[in-house]
Amino acid sequence: MLEISRISKSFGGLMAVDSVDLSVKRGALFGILGPNGSGKTTLFNLLTGFLEPTAGGVRFEGNELIGRSPEDIVRLGVARTFQVVRFHKDSTVRETVWAAQSMHLGLRDLFRTIDAPSQRDLAEEVDSILERTWLKPHADRLARELPFGLVRQLEIARALATRPKILLMDEPASGMNPSETHQLTEDIRRLRDGGLTIVLIEHDIEMVMGLCDRIAVLNFGRKITEGTADEVKSNPDVIAAYLGTKKKHAHA
Ligand SMILES: Nc1ncnc2c1ncn2[C@@H]1O[C@H](COP(=O)(O)OP(=O)(O)OP(=O)(O)O)[C@@H](O)[C@H]1O
Ligand SMILES: [Mg+2]
Repeated sequence: MLEISRISKSFGGLMAVDSVDLSVKRGALFGILGPNGSGKTTLFNLLTGFLEPTAGGVRFEGNELIGRSPEDIVRLGVARTFQVVRFHKDSTVRETVWAAQSMHLGLRDLFRTIDAPSQRDLAEEVDSILERTWLKPHADRLARELPFGLVRQLEIARALATRPKILLMDEPASGMNPSETHQLTEDIRRLRDGGLTIVLIEHDIEMVMGLCDRIAVLNFGRKITEGTADEVKSNPDVIAAYLGTKKKHAHA
């Protein structure tokens, strides 16, 4: 479904992503691990049109993604959540999800021409997304006033509103307490079982190992290994990468 070939990004002299190959199959739950600064978020930025690569290509269902705008890429069915979240300052939770939906559908200007039943369907879709992300009771609160765990859920809701085929999640559990993380793990599994393909960046190694069918590990921009949880866990390069950065790593 997603084929990344020899993708690189340098910032000045720094190779943030260095000739990475990755292949994600439809229906997979694919994990990306790596210490701080290993290039994980940069890789997502390359896939989603937020950064231009120095070299390499990305195909999604046969379409080249490089050179397309972030909006175009969303319309092809690629959604992401952000590690650092920003919401419009006066929007409620429901409005935030609705805005993501209408942006995807390109309805902002057309909205007046949409008939009432279709509008009702769209509103129902937003409701259903709010329910699935545990946000229904908070629908009318301001997005910026949500507690951290719910902010992470709203990120997911906003991504789902664009009707993605693949969802790229950048540290969705960061800042969550253990019970929220447990719930999120269940939610991610349920999304995948519902047919969504997922790529998950997470610092929570246990979570990635427990959830993902396949895991790639980045270090200094390079993919140092890829395999099942058991294969990755026992790889000496992975152990070295993590032990070598344990202190820095603790922050997240
Ligand atoms: N826009 C940018 N300009 C310059 N350097 C950047 C930029 N974005 C990222 N970098 C650098 O590229 C490297 C990879 O950063 P990236 O954010 O991709 O790492 P990460 O694996 O997501 O880290 P973390 O686990 O802390 O989120 C880092 O050294 C970072 O400082
Ligand atoms: Mg990151």
